[in-house]
Amino acid sequence: MELNSYSVAHGLVMGIETSCDETAVAVVEDGSRALSSIIYSQEVHAEFGGVVPELAGREHERRILTVIKQAISEAGLEMSKPKLEAIAVTMGPGLAGALMVGVAAAKALSLAWEVPIVGVNHLEGHLFAVRLEQDPISYPALMLLVSGGHTMLVLVERPGRYKIVGQSLDDAAGEAFDKVARFLGLGYPGGPEIEREAGFGDPSFIRFPRALRDGSFNFSFSGLKTAVVTFAKRNPQVEMADIAASFQEAVVDVLVEKTLNAAKEFGAKSVALAGGVGANTKLRELLAKRAHDLDLGVCIPSRANCTDNGAMIAAAGAWRLENFGPSDISLGAYPSLRLQESI
Ligand code: KG4
Ligand code: ZN
Repeated sequence: MELNSYSVAHGLVMGIETSCDETAVAVVEDGSRALSSIIYSQEVHAEFGGVVPELAGREHERRILTVIKQAISEAGLEMSKPKLEAIAVTMGPGLAGALMVGVAAAKALSLAWEVPIVGVNHLEGHLFAVRLEQDPISYPALMLLVSGGHTMLVLVERPGRYKIVGQSLDDAAGEAFDKVARFLGLGYPGGPEIEREAGFGDPSFIRFPRALRDGSFNFSFSGLKTAVVTFAKRNPQVEMADIAASFQEAVVDVLVEKTLNAAKEFGAKSVALAGGVGANTKLRELLAKRAHDLDLGVCIPSRANCTDNGAMIAAAGAWRLENFGPSDISLGAYPSLRLQESI
């Protein structure tokens, strides 16, 4: 893709995110300052222990306009015709029926308000969460993107220039948290539940396997999940808190070690965290400490900016708009969209 000469006056961009189970909208100034960020987390899925795609689409449909109105009003704008530079919207990857709600809303408002739309890749959105933090990140950066659907190590030479240096060969880290939580009878989403339970346990109680210690930067979590399930079945007397803490320890250990090894291998100046699992306190603290010990810069976005939100979509959209111009109004939803590598 060629950079074109489209330039904007760094105005206000609204970001809409509906790829999974958060209906989220934000207004961001200069691609980096959130004036508002409203996140509605759908609760209908909890009783099913995972996201039910059809329910997600319906919930987005029910909530999207309320969330948009709130984001516009909290940013001090008028719903009749807000002064926006663009509307950025997640176009994929994600659940088709969920993505379509956000894309349709963005297109309708784009016509009504006469502002362009910008389609944003959800994964690139996560990588742009670092832009919403006070301190600028130094490039090249090695970013650990850990969410419910993805586990990736991405070398970011500068915004828009990516190389995926490793990824999960099976379950994503967040998926492993969710599956283990479900097995242990904890709620959904599983990450925060495991984290809470682990707070009462001993992380060194059992040493669960650390997979793929082969020098590669890929991950595998399905063996760990099976090991946890097998251990719990065979040892019913062991406290759930000790199992949760030992499981969390194994995941965090592998994530941090591979991130730092990759940073060294690719000469990164800093490391950064992105995605929902990035809200995990143990992961945040260990990555920050170990990177600091190695004299690497660190960017750990706030928890709200790690989990799905509209501000990261607006930040990525502002950058896309500036460098590549707006998307066509025929923009669709692309459930299997991948992060485009350009290094
Ligand atoms: O990025 P995200 O909000 O949505 C996706 O794009 O997938 O990530 C959601 C994932 C879920 O699997 C959830 O269990 C996990 O992030 N998660 C956590 C924590 N908070 C959310 N995992 C571990 N510890 C947490 N505190
Ligand atoms: Zn996400």
